[in-house]
Amino acid sequence: MNQPVRTPDPAAAAVPLTAPRELLADDLDRARRRSRALTDAVDDGDLVRQHSPLMSPLVWDLAHIGNQEELWLVRDVGGREPVRDDIDHLYDAFKHPRADRPALPLLDPAQTRAYTRTVREQVLDLLDTVSFDGRPLVEQGFAFGMIVQHEQQHDETMLATHQLRAGPPVLTGAAPPSSVTSVRGEALIPGGPFTMGTSTEPWALDNERPAHRVDVPAFLIDRAPVTNARYQQFIDDGGYRDERWWSPEGWAHRQRAGLTGPLHWHGDGSYTRFGRRSAIVPDEPVVHVCWYEAQAYATWAGRRLPTEAEWEKAARFDPATGRSRRYPWGDDDPRPEHANLGQRHLSPAPAGAYPAGASPTGVHQLIGDVWEWTASCFDGYPGFGAFPYREYSEVFFGPDHRVLRGGSFGTDRSACRGTFRNWDYPIRRQIFSGFRTARDPLPGEVA
Ligand code: AVJ
Ligand code: FE
Repeated sequence: MNQPVRTPDPAAAAVPLTAPRELLADDLDRARRRSRALTDAVDDGDLVRQHSPLMSPLVWDLAHIGNQEELWLVRDVGGREPVRDDIDHLYDAFKHPRADRPALPLLDPAQTRAYTRTVREQVLDLLDTVSFDGRPLVEQGFAFGMIVQHEQQHDETMLATHQLRAGPPVLTGAAPPSSVTSVRGEALIPGGPFTMGTSTEPWALDNERPAHRVDVPAFLIDRAPVTNARYQQFIDDGGYRDERWWSPEGWAHRQRAGLTGPLHWHGDGSYTRFGRRSAIVPDEPVVHVCWYEAQAYATWAGRRLPTEAEWEKAARFDPATGRSRRYPWGDDDPRPEHANLGQRHLSPAPAGAYPAGASPTGVHQLIGDVWEWTASCFDGYPGFGAFPYREYSEVFFGPDHRVLRGGSFGTDRSACRGTFRNWDYPIRRQIFSGFRTARDPLPGEVA
């Protein structure tokens, strides 16, 4: 199914012209303000502590953000002397697993803040003078966009660390918007080829490229992510005790890990969010479930997870024109009325809260709120080429990782689009992960 067919891309989405330098500076600044908010919220003890073996100390993330910015922008793009030539190995994610990072001779919080500040001063200076032509790495400001996205990705990781942190709350966000429309049932996505991935989106990362045609037969997909209320029905029906719904690996993991409900749920109708315990909101998308839980729920519901190609077709395909757009709502960059992105709200919004973000086929909240697990393993598209380094994507290709799509309330708009691909192990649920379900049409259901 979904055999990729390599043909030219007649339906490439309209993409913006080269980001002006002021916009790049704004994006860099927005990322840094967020990094600072997440790290200034706690004291030095909390910055250097490991809040979970799954996560780095916050001070590691912050210095790693600065170190990547130094490596790619100061040294590679700028051709300048190192800011610090003695710390690269400490902040190389491939040299030290997360669990080992607290024991490293890391920069302390004050040194880390000074380091990231110095690197940023050099980068802003560079941004004024560097040419965007000639080298693929800098074309259309790509390297700057890559570093903006890298910092924002770590800001989402730091937000997940905050969610795992014990102790009184330190983060505050406005309540998400309420539901303004009822979003129930499923949408039919017509069968046929569509353009998946992109060759034109300037900041698309290597794994989103190139654009290619994929034939996706007709399918039906939930118009909203699976909500807490629906997920509670699965629990109440004994879903966690019934091996029938789980894959063999999923059942083994459920037993080994003792799973009884989403991470941070207490089993009494309450959950904890960033240190605050409250009643579970029924019509919010469920979050903090692993791929195995999502898959078991879907089987229990008589359905399945969408493939990655199905998810992207639901998010991008416009049946009226046959074109793949950048986002479900069209080609405009995300605005606050489109999607719950950017850590404005520290929770998903209820189903029906973002009517302006719906797709032409009536699918809501594909972007923002919760990352959505897909059925698919993470692999390169036909014609994939690692760029600018193999360790961003390629070393993760294969059967070990599942793809998540769409971004969460913790994802910045710069690191989220219809083509954006995230991935993780099927047991992971400290990330802001939820899902929606899909199914094949019944005979006679497709005209
Ligand atoms: C794409 C979110 C899986 O956090 O491991 C950060 C992003 N890559 N630094 C991750 C990333 C290098 C990556 N994910
Ligand atoms: Fe990183």
